[in-house]
Amino acid sequence: MKIIFSKKKLIKIMQKEKNLGFVPTMGAIHKGHISLIKKSNEECAKTIVSIFVNKQQFNKKRDYEKYPRILRKDIFILKNNKVDYIYIPTIKQIYPYGYNKKIVISSFSKKLCGIHRPRHFEAIADVVERFTNIINPNKIFFGEKDMQQLLIMKDFFKKMKYKTKVIGCKTIREN
Ligand code: PAF
Repeated sequence: MKIIFSKKKLIKIMQKEKNLGFVPTMGAIHKGHISLIKKSNEECAKTIVSIFVNKQQFNKKRDYEKYPRILRKDIFILKNNKVDYIYIPTIKQIYPYGYNKKIVISSFSKKLCGIHRPRHFEAIADVVERFTNIINPNKIFFGEKDMQQLLIMKDFFKKMKYKTKVIGCKTIREN
């Protein structure tokens, strides 16, 4: 398993990959993430996991600050679950010129959770698109647990005509 901190290095390595599955995370790896990794390993030759706590998708500063950051433990778990690459970028690598304030996503983003979380789903689409452009995976895996996120991402990738396929995986929870 390779742990990559450099965007430049990652882009070089990714160009050689032909059948790559991508599991985006904000760390604090749990059983749900592991099930996405399993699915990726079943469907793709290699799997890459990103760990990045995406500040712009948090509606409350406090939630962002107290989000669990347990990198050593995460790396240990990922190592034991057949992950080929972990990408751990800096904020600057992902947002060299700031956020994309003009991103357009499905109006479904204004319903359900979106009623209480303005621009939350735009922020997710923004960060996932940025990772997709860097990694260029064949498939990207999301849990059905976050059903609204999954449906919005499916719609976004279709409209943007990405070759990357969005795969939904059934909900797995810690006991
Ligand atoms: O589902 C999550 O953990 C996040 O929304 C994601 C997809 C990693 C984007 O930051």
